[in-house]
Amino acid sequence: MPLGFQATSPARPSVGIVGAGVCGLGIGWRLAGAGCRVDVFDRAEPGRGASWAAAGMLAARAEAEPGEETLLALNLASQEMWPGFAAELAAAGGVSVDYRDEGTLIVALDRDDAEALRFTYDYQRRQGLDVHWLSGAEARKREPFLSPNVGAGVYSPGDHQVDNRKLVEALLQAFRAAGGRLHTGVEVAAIDIEGGRARGLVLAGAEAGVRRYDVVVLAAGAWSRGIAGLPDALRPPVRPLKGQMLSLQMDPEDPLLRHVLWAPGVYLVPRLDGRMIVGATVEEKGFDPSLTAGGVLDLLRSTWEALPGVTELPIVEMWVGHRPTSRDDAPILGPTLVDGLVMATGHHRNGILLTPVTADAVSHYILHGKVMPVIEPFSIARFAKKPGRARPAADGAKLGVVT
Ligand code: GLY
Repeated sequence: MPLGFQATSPARPSVGIVGAGVCGLGIGWRLAGAGCRVDVFDRAEPGRGASWAAAGMLAARAEAEPGEETLLALNLASQEMWPGFAAELAAAGGVSVDYRDEGTLIVALDRDDAEALRFTYDYQRRQGLDVHWLSGAEARKREPFLSPNVGAGVYSPGDHQVDNRKLVEALLQAFRAAGGRLHTGVEVAAIDIEGGRARGLVLAGAEAGVRRYDVVVLAAGAWSRGIAGLPDALRPPVRPLKGQMLSLQMDPEDPLLRHVLWAPGVYLVPRLDGRMIVGATVEEKGFDPSLTAGGVLDLLRSTWEALPGVTELPIVEMWVGHRPTSRDDAPILGPTLVDGLVMATGHHRNGILLTPVTADAVSHYILHGKVMPVIEPFSIARFAKKPGRARPAADGAKLGVVT
C-alpha cells in the first residue's frame, strides 16, 4: 500500500516535532515560514545531540562507497542545496554557518592505504564524481604541513563544510523569527496514536498534558526508537553509534590546515576561528558517554601521523556523540502508515549534509501531501517484512516492519 497524503490534513496543519536537532529545527523553520503552528520539543537544550557533536563535513563525494548509490543521490542532492540554504538561513536569522569551500583532501600514508584509496577513487570516478588523484607532492602543495610519508591523495573540490554548532544557532534564530515555538527541558512521554492516526504528543514534567496536532514529526535522532506510543512495527530501526572527538586550537591567521582532511583513522576539519575538529571513533557501545584513553590516543596518533605539527597545539575540548544509525545506514524520511505520523531520523554520519533536503522534502510532504522523488527510497516501509518471512500475527504486523 503506498504511503499517501492524509485527506484529513488541513492546508496549514499544526505540527508537533519531537527533537530540536538540526533536522527537527530545519523542518520546523520551513513549516513555520509557510504559516503553520509549529512546536518543537526537546528534553535538553536545542541541538545538543548529534547535531552538536558532528564535524559539519558536507562530503557526499569523499564518503561515497560501493553499494550506497541510492544514498549517494540523496547526499548529492542535499549538497547542491547547501549554498542556497546557508544564504537563506543567514538572511532569515542573522547567523552565518561559516560555509567553507576549500574542498576535501583524502591522503594515504603507505602503499596499503594508497591501494585502498585508489579502489575508492576508481569507484567514485565511475559514479561520475569530480575527484582528482594527487601525488604526495601535489597533496603537500595544497597542505604544506602534511607528513612526508603522504604518498598519494585524492582532492574533492565539491566537498565542503559548515560549523554545525553555528548551524544549530542559525536554525534556532530562523525558526523563532518565522514564529515557531521551542520547548526545551520538556520530555515527550509518548506519541498519542488513536484509531490509526497520530493525534498529538503526551508531555511530561513542567508542561505535562496532551497536545493535539494534525501532524507529528519524529526527529529524535538516536533516541527515536525509544519514544512510547509507537506501534512496535513503526519503531524506527535506529541505534546510537558512539563517536569520540576532540578539538585543537590552531593559529587562525596561520593555520596548520585549510582543507577538510581525511587520513587513515581520522578526519580533521579546520574552522575559521582556528579550531581543528578531530574525529571520530565508531563504536557499538549504545549510549555510553565515556571518553576513553584508547579512543583519544587513536585519534591523536592518527592525526600526528598525517600532520606531525599538531603536537604543539592546545587541546580545546573533548566530547562524545551518538550518531542515529539506521539498519542500512540511510535516513528514514517521510510518511508512515499511521496517518499524520512523519519520520525524519536515522541520518547516521550524514545529518548535517542532509539537513537541507530533510527540511525541504519533509515539510513539502506535510504541506502538499506529495513525497518528493528524492526521498521516496527512504521511507520506513523499506524495512517491511518480505512476503513469506512474516512473523506470527502481532500488533502492528499488518504494517510489516521488522524491527
Ligand atoms: N560524519 C562524521 C562522523 O560520523 O564521524
